[in-house]
Amino acid sequence: MGARPSFPIVSIPRERIVIVTGGNTGLGYEISKWIAVMGATVIIACRSEERARQAIERMQKEYEVLKGEMKDKHELAVYDKLAVEFMPLNLISMQSTLDFVQSFKSSGRKLHILICNAGIGMAPFERTADGFEKMLQVNYLGHFVMVAKLLPIMRTSGEDCRMLFMSSDGHRSCRFNINTINYDGQPDKFGRLDYYGRTKLYQIMQMHCLVRRLKNTNVTINSSHPGIVETEINRNFEDSFFWNTIFFGGTKLIGKMKTPIEGATSIINAAVNPALTGVNGIYYYDCKSSYTTGTARNEQKQEALWEKTLELLKDHITTEELNILEGRT
Ligand SMILES: NC(=O)c1ccc[n+]([C@@H]2O[C@H](COP(=O)([O-])OP(=O)(O)OC[C@H]3O[C@@H](n4cnc5c(N)ncnc54)[C@H](OP(=O)(O)O)[C@@H]3O)[C@@H](O)[C@H]2O)c1
Repeated sequence: MGARPSFPIVSIPRERIVIVTGGNTGLGYEISKWIAVMGATVIIACRSEERARQAIERMQKEYEVLKGEMKDKHELAVYDKLAVEFMPLNLISMQSTLDFVQSFKSSGRKLHILICNAGIGMAPFERTADGFEKMLQVNYLGHFVMVAKLLPIMRTSGEDCRMLFMSSDGHRSCRFNINTINYDGQPDKFGRLDYYGRTKLYQIMQMHCLVRRLKNTNVTINSSHPGIVETEINRNFEDSFFWNTIFFGGTKLIGKMKTPIEGATSIINAAVNPALTGVNGIYYYDCKSSYTTGTARNEQKQEALWEKTLELLKDHITTEELNILEGRT
């Protein structure tokens, strides 16, 4: 029996700034809380202020208990409160995403860790006001814009900056067709599982494109599959008897369902473990490098996706940002 996957409890300076999208619940909640417990300043970028505020309150309460449990075991600076802050971000809207970036930029802060975690699973077809299929925008395009716009800050934030994408093994069961990225078929023919998987595949492919462009810089990019985790992810497919009852219910019944902290462990480890400084392009599962599909690893397809993505986002990324994203400066 191998040891359970875990992350080291390390002391992180308060000046180290971390953004976690969707930090108010599920995997994002645990990621945000634990990184904050280690001392960093964590910004949870969320669409609901109320849910975010409740999450921060819960984190603070849990910290009170943890402080007592941890103080003799770890050399951690103990603070009165966790440094967790809320900033509004609704990835379904390009304007909200741009507003988030603008307001972070105007704070003048550095950015050391960006965790693209927020996501929706198997949502029925819906087109956003920006003209994109909803999961495509929330899970992939919105985060791509954040990466493009926050990378210039990360590039000047000092050593060891890390970007992490919460992907999924759902990327294994989808198709890849560069011409049907933004679904424009009949709504009732929309393949929710296929299109969810695609967004998660795109994140892995984006990681590889970024690794090629940013090698030998201060920024690394990695990704993870959390496992099948009991979070609120299934709220989007509560109407599906197969996925909700058979798949999720069955996984729970046979004891294979992970808790949020178990699912979050790989990303927390990738974000904080000093031994992983400089490590790039890994798809983690249970803190170990895991395999991805041939499509995910196919460089030609990755680059075709990159080009297509830039075409879709041409109105939202400036030439200066593009130069940094392409590793030209
Ligand atoms: N749970 C699993 O089994 C599993 C497996 C593989 C991958 N994942 C991935 O893990 C990530 C986290 O999911 P989870 O399991 O923790 O699910 P969750 O409990 O449903 O949490 C999802 C988070 O994303 C946020 N979010 C959704 N739409 C958003 C939007 N338009 N703008 C900003 N934030 C938005 C949610 O905010 P609200 O609370 O306001 O809705 C919530 O904070 C997702 O990317 C998911 O694809 C999960």
